[in-house]
Amino acid sequence: MKSILFVCLGNICRSPIAEGVARRLIEQEGNGITVDSAGTGSWHIGEAPCRHSIIVARNNGVDISSLRARQVHKNDFQKFDLIVALDQSNYNDLQAMGAKNLVKLGEFGCGGADVPDPYFFDGFEGFDRVFAMIESCVAQLLSERG
Ligand code: 4NP
Repeated sequence: MKSILFVCLGNICRSPIAEGVARRLIEQEGNGITVDSAGTGSWHIGEAPCRHSIIVARNNGVDISSLRARQVHKNDFQKFDLIVALDQSNYNDLQAMGAKNLVKLGEFGCGGADVPDPYFFDGFEGFDRVFAMIESCVAQLLSERG
């Protein structure tokens, strides 16, 4: 597999973490896989990741501060070998747009669970749990499919 696109709703909380974690693992492996992330929604196009995602990533040695949100486009389904939805709602939206090469991140070691949407979390609490889940599923994904 040469390229992976991670997709959540806003592309400011969860999928930038997945992109940052994957990028770091890919650099360590040196396998040359390309990664990117996007959102199904358009509200946050051009914005940096949310503050708490930047902080939790930084606490874990991953700098995602320079990423900028974009909206997923049908062309992405041709450009990327694998489209990875962060939750079932993202999965359903991507399927409705015509994505075929589609999986859900939680299928990789988390029993198919959704990565919880932290956008409406109260403060920082919960972001550690979201980061840990994303990190473990992304590692599993890359070892199975990378
Ligand atoms: P994300 O979180 O999908 O993990 O980036 C969200 C970001 C923004 C919104 C919802 C979820 N929003 O409704 O604007």
